[in-house]
Amino acid sequence: MTELPVPALSLVALIGISGSGKSTFAGRHFAPSQVLSSDGFRAMVADDENDQSASAAAFDALHYVAGKRLAGGRLTVVDATNVQDHARTNLVALARAHDVLPVAIVLDLPEDEAWARTQRRPDRTFDRPVLARQSRDLRRTLKKLSREGFRTVHVLRGHEEIEAATIRLQP
Ligand code: GTP
Ligand code: MG
Repeated sequence: MTELPVPALSLVALIGISGSGKSTFAGRHFAPSQVLSSDGFRAMVADDENDQSASAAAFDALHYVAGKRLAGGRLTVVDATNVQDHARTNLVALARAHDVLPVAIVLDLPEDEAWARTQRRPDRTFDRPVLARQSRDLRRTLKKLSREGFRTVHVLRGHEEIEAATIRLQP
């Protein structure tokens, strides 16, 4: 078991390719109300969690709610791939604007394993190149995370580390 220290008042960005287990991890370690997921917000604004054309509106709404939570001093977890630079830049800026610590938790599952899981999911229909691109973005992300302003960076490599991790909130 590995305990990951996380400041009690922080904005936690989960980072990982589709199928890496972000939503499962969030559900295991955080209360449902603490977790804002891109899928949930796509569903909210467009009735379809897979509608990528709804992403802009979904993230607008997600950031708005995250800001309200942080203003109220509430730990907030963002469940989205966050492998693209602009996604993380927005989250670091949001955390700074509310004077809370941006935390990154990376779920680095091999692409083959994530793809195998995805094949078993009825709710995911994207093609392999989409996952390959996310993987490339993640590799680049890993090299520059701490420089981007994340004050705490936890990287979990492989399903065993991911499954063994627990969160320890720090006052
Ligand atoms: P996206 O929402 O598509 O980005 O994926 P995600 O990163 O949220 O992955 P999700 O948590 O939905 O998990 C994907 C699949 O892997 C699901 O079928 C889960 O049941 C399975 N899974 C998730 N976490 C674990 C884990 O820790 N161990 C195992 N064995 N399976 C897992
Ligand atoms: Mg998910």
